[in-house]
Amino acid sequence: MGTPAPVGKLDTLVSLCKRRGFIFQSSEIYGGINGFWDYGPLGCELKSNIRQSWWQSMVRLREDVVGLDATIIMHPAAWKASGHLDTFSDPMCTCKSCKKLMRADQTWEMLADNELGASLTELHANGQPDSGRVEGWCNGRGKGLAPGLAAVRNPDAVLAAVGTRLAGTAFRNFVSLLASENPAALVQPCPHCGGELTEPRPFNLMFKTIVGPVEDPANVAYLRPETAQSIFAQFLNVITTSRQSVPFGIAQVGKSFRNEVTPRNFTFRSREFEQMELEFFIRPDEAIELICGRVATLADNPDLSAPQENWGWQVWHKYWVEQRLAWYRRIGLPDASLVQYWQEPKELAHYARACVDIQYAFPFGVQELEGIAARSDFDLTQHQKHSGKTMEVFDEPLKLAAAKLDEAARAAFADKVAAEWAGRGKSADDARAFVAKLFEGRYIPHVIEPSAGVDRLALALLCNAYAEEPVTDDKGKTETRVVLRFSPRIAPVKVAVFPLMKNKPELYAKAREIFGQLQRRWNCFWDESGAIGRRYRRMDEAGTPFCVTIDFQTLEDGTVTLRDRDTMKQERLSVAALKEKLDDSLI
Ligand code: GLY
Repeated sequence: MGTPAPVGKLDTLVSLCKRRGFIFQSSEIYGGINGFWDYGPLGCELKSNIRQSWWQSMVRLREDVVGLDATIIMHPAAWKASGHLDTFSDPMCTCKSCKKLMRADQTWEMLADNELGASLTELHANGQPDSGRVEGWCNGRGKGLAPGLAAVRNPDAVLAAVGTRLAGTAFRNFVSLLASENPAALVQPCPHCGGELTEPRPFNLMFKTIVGPVEDPANVAYLRPETAQSIFAQFLNVITTSRQSVPFGIAQVGKSFRNEVTPRNFTFRSREFEQMELEFFIRPDEAIELICGRVATLADNPDLSAPQENWGWQVWHKYWVEQRLAWYRRIGLPDASLVQYWQEPKELAHYARACVDIQYAFPFGVQELEGIAARSDFDLTQHQKHSGKTMEVFDEPLKLAAAKLDEAARAAFADKVAAEWAGRGKSADDARAFVAKLFEGRYIPHVIEPSAGVDRLALALLCNAYAEEPVTDDKGKTETRVVLRFSPRIAPVKVAVFPLMKNKPELYAKAREIFGQLQRRWNCFWDESGAIGRRYRRMDEAGTPFCVTIDFQTLEDGTVTLRDRDTMKQERLSVAALKEKLDDSLI
């Protein structure tokens, strides 16, 4: 488990985000629209820095990853192939009393978060409810909080039916007993009014739209629910134009859309959001075995610092987990703030061989920032089937390695692969067809997918950066300083420049000159109003790591005062030394 975020209450952060221009409700002047958020002047710089840092680490600093910028709307057949049309859904139910819609799998969680849940928890009294108090609640406070709850609508009948069973039972069972006139099974009441819920039904999360002027079912298209599928759909174009060969990756950053039944937790679960996804294509293990003689697995305790030709999918997967953790560390999320959750085999999607969630301890619970999945050859195989275009690659070293095997060795290899596949519930005939292709140097690549959310990460970075601390000024007055301790690498504003006084033309001009020089390299902020101490506080709340003050001494010797956000220490240095120092901390 990671350590909890220092910001204890999400409300505090939401209010700072609005006050300082990080995040606003979309269309706020019209009352907002649920699940959509806008990023203000500081928020859009923060997001832009996250994207740039990700791109730098995943694409620019590597020779085996290239980029893609694909459309949000794809041919709808792509979503049939990927499985999203048929299976990308959440279970949804409706309250028969208040008519609200909600995720059927989140009702207990929602109850735990609201006033009704708090009141029922108090009534439950750790399994020792007082029957008189329960009756009083049903006839009093319950009428306002839970008008739909069976025990509130019909207290005499329900309380008589449950009799003494309310005592000594767990919370959910206690609530369930109050929620039904026939308390046999566990009943989930509506978290809003306590009413009866409909049976869950699947609700597809893709937003639909119409392409062209005619509102015909034939013209229905979807806003992409993930950026990944356009990477798979463009796999052939990219590999034939980029001079890459397997193993290599295609990276993309872009908007995705999911029509969440209940968007919640500020920007964490939004209906429009941004993803940073890498699809890293690797050889199937069987190809590696033919080329290298043996496949390296985690049992070999491999050195993960540089990829090796004999790495199987397990090692590549672990390599990407380590790469991603190193990046989070670099942008200011320490290991202690993150949790690695290795999904249990029963939790894995049907195509996945392994999946690790990198989670962060948000104020509302430990939640996923990024999933790193080993997706086998599922996606490319699906697109091959549905498009009729081959997704196979030709691998010269594989063909050469296979050519060295005699007939007996080939037969033994095919038997071995068929037995392994059968052990995983796959067809032996398919295995033999696959091996025959391998001998020709052909296969559909497998893929490792690190998939991160920009908005979730921005929220985690805000939570992680937030701090309140008492500070005492020169006159001995103590106040609370709110500071966002962002890593300088992702801080929205890197340097604030202050002229000590704005009514001294020579000093003002010098400050503008230095500001102009810094602005060419970094995102800077000019502030000439108020006492220097107040200007520092404003920059602390914006998370600006450095403030530079130009004063009369600057006019004499060219030095400026640099103030560090975290230590609040000041030092005098030349403008050249200042640039060097900024370079060191910001690159
Ligand atoms: N591509 C994985 C995801 O969107 O969750």
